[in-house]
Amino acid sequence: MPRAIISPSVLASDFGQLTAECKRMIKGGAEWLHMDVMDGHFVPNITMGAPILSCVHKGVPGIFMDCHMMVAEPEKWVNDIADAGGALYCFHLEATAHPIALIDTIHGRNMKAGVAISPDTPSTAITDEIANAADMLLVMTVYPGRGGQKFLDRCVPKVAELRARFPDKDIEVDGGVGPKTIGVCADAGSNVIVAGTAIFGAQNPEAVIAELKDTVNT
Ligand code: DX5
Ligand code: ZN
Repeated sequence: MPRAIISPSVLASDFGQLTAECKRMIKGGAEWLHMDVMDGHFVPNITMGAPILSCVHKGVPGIFMDCHMMVAEPEKWVNDIADAGGALYCFHLEATAHPIALIDTIHGRNMKAGVAISPDTPSTAITDEIANAADMLLVMTVYPGRGGQKFLDRCVPKVAELRARFPDKDIEVDGGVGPKTIGVCADAGSNVIVAGTAIFGAQNPEAVIAELKDTVNT
């Protein structure tokens, strides 16, 4: 399995102190920062877009922005997110009819490409062709749209199915992940761990990051 990568979701941070919050996470051991972009169409909420990501990129030297695009037209934002300094552009498979072409476009802008599936989408929707073209697969463990939801155990088998098919691929889990739920995620084979509430809500985020990482790596 590839190495553990912890990607705190800034959705649970203090947006008024976004750059400071990102720096705090990197200091605490996080490799990536998970940026939840919501458009009010693919999901009911609106969060942030390229102008904010651009400020964060300028304010946090060396940041790797793992951009989770919960948007209805993922083709539309590739250039803006690339210009803003996005490192990984993860779109929802449910939102596009042309995933391979989109992955090519993302790579053309020198970003890594991720493919996300919502709880009701089976792992088989990610064909071998899509997975081989992508750099990362994201299995949502809550319905996309907001932080702080309860982890859906029924999504975990999809992680195991994808890990069996793609032993070397980065597989991310997102939603309700924390010290109580990391065990089943790691056992199933996920190595990129998103956690919002569990990290930002902790007294000692550094200890939670270390615990999540250790569970994946052991
Ligand atoms: C949900 C987002 C998640 C969310 C995770 O739509 O994609 O990234 O912020 O937050 P927690 O870890 O609090 O469930
Ligand atoms: Zn997310």
